Amino acid sequence: MARFDDKRRQFLQFAAFSAAAAAWPGVMLAQAAKMSNAPSGTFKPDVEIELTAREATVSLKRGATTKVFKYHGKLLKGSPATLSELPGYLGPTLNLVRGQKVRIIFYNQLPEPTVAHWHGMHVPQKMDGHPMYAINRGERYVYEFEVKNPAGTNWYHAHTHEMTATQVYQGLAGLITISDEQEQKLELPGGAYDLPLVIQDRRFTADNQLRYLQHGMQERIRGFLGDTILINGQIDRTIPVKTRAYRLRVLNGSNSRIYKLGWEDGTPLTAIGTDGALLAKPETFPYIMLAPAERVELWVDFSGRELGSDLVLYSLDYHGVMPHMGGGMRGGRSGEGRRGGGMGMMGGGLAQGSKFPLVKFHIAEKTSESPQLPTTLASFKRLLDRDVANPDKPIRIGLSMMHMSPELNHRSFELLAAAESEKIPVNTIQKIRIFQEDHGMRGGGRRGMEDTADMSGRGGRRGGGMGMMMSMAHPIHLHGQQFQILSRLIKEQHGSGYETVKDGFVNNGWKDTVLVMPGEEVTIIKPFQEYTGLFLYHCHNLEHEDMGMMRNFLVE
Ligand code: C2O
Ligand code: CU
Ligand code: CU
Repeated sequence: MARFDDKRRQFLQFAAFSAAAAAWPGVMLAQAAKMSNAPSGTFKPDVEIELTAREATVSLKRGATTKVFKYHGKLLKGSPATLSELPGYLGPTLNLVRGQKVRIIFYNQLPEPTVAHWHGMHVPQKMDGHPMYAINRGERYVYEFEVKNPAGTNWYHAHTHEMTATQVYQGLAGLITISDEQEQKLELPGGAYDLPLVIQDRRFTADNQLRYLQHGMQERIRGFLGDTILINGQIDRTIPVKTRAYRLRVLNGSNSRIYKLGWEDGTPLTAIGTDGALLAKPETFPYIMLAPAERVELWVDFSGRELGSDLVLYSLDYHGVMPHMGGGMRGGRSGEGRRGGGMGMMGGGLAQGSKFPLVKFHIAEKTSESPQLPTTLASFKRLLDRDVANPDKPIRIGLSMMHMSPELNHRSFELLAAAESEKIPVNTIQKIRIFQEDHGMRGGGRRGMEDTADMSGRGGRRGGGMGMMMSMAHPIHLHGQQFQILSRLIKEQHGSGYETVKDGFVNNGWKDTVLVMPGEEVTIIKPFQEYTGLFLYHCHNLEHEDMGMMRNFLVE
């Protein structure tokens, strides 16, 4: 009964403003939000936070200060440890505990509409920061949810209609840590030994202001790539450490850049957590691929390192993620190829996939006490075919970029729409297949544009009149509950690129974002429990997201 009423209300709400919303999103959406954001009388928060999005100036480089958008937090109720500040432009870290009831009173003091999304968190539709709930300057939105996620590292960021990329770029992002009882028993490195590591790339003007895209369409298709790396919202980071173990919470908070994390001296990386939770047990990797929005928690042990020495975390060389061109580009080198050595090179300096240092750890102090790496971490139940509602009929998410338009199942984003195939019965577990629709691209050993300027486009001719067809790596994110990766299948190799990334995927554990390489097919299993309504799924290359590579699932 309650479900029916809810659904009906939802339907009326959608019907009331969907037509107008399409024409004039800012105003209409804000009105819809006002109808739905009154704090509820029955919700008794354990934690209450006032969060304001506003303009700010921060000192990032020598000389002039930089104008940014910044989340400002104020704790109204709860333990003082609930909010911790990072020194740069990022919002306060929200340190939450599983089971807590959280109220966030969100104020918009920006000169444009915005909405906040709690990436990775399992919350009801109205609390999820869907773009339909954007508010205008001067307005507020009250979020209330219970923390249902297990211990791990999530984040929050703007999710405004067609403005997510620019708003996140200007600073609207922050970390969320979640702790729970099981995790506390592990006694992982805490306090000063639990380090956030948010990696972002930016570009600056001569007077120290953030510079966004320059070259129009080609650059949007590739996504923004900056030439300056920021760690926790700061440039040139050296982190002093002791000779002991640390817990490193790494988030790729970049718009489009994919990092291949690796230590300068070849030491393997030890992962203890992925997007949504701790792993069942630690796993080691020669390097780890971290696409936009992905998180990985690392166990880093500096014991045995020499006092005064440095250890640098790099993004290592790789290739094969940038656009492969099909039809329309035949006949040799295109303008793009000539201009900047391929799309990967555009943007001055740091090509996607080139090698550069991220952050330096300086061994500043000797200590003999260091915790031991636990052999098991979190309980984990692998989801199998017998758990899912559709073992033989996976939901399909086809990734395509035809005619310069990145799409999902050949559809663009529609704010409040879900197609028949996007309707999912609540309280089911679904198998979902995410794959590249790059059939126009069988170019044999042809490599990506970033490798060579070889775009003779043999594959394009076989596209059968599909026009210009491109394939590139897409980090695909699904809102709502975390999922598990069932399989990764490379159906078709585009040159040797895959070999340079394939050992860096953390495929076990709970994920909410997965990098799908050109020619690849990834099958996941995802629960859709408890909450009905519209939940987004999209490419987390933020330029792609804003270009419409996003859709809704309607859970009902
Ligand atoms: Cu990081 Cu739709 O979100
Ligand atoms: Cu999200
Ligand atoms: Cu994409």
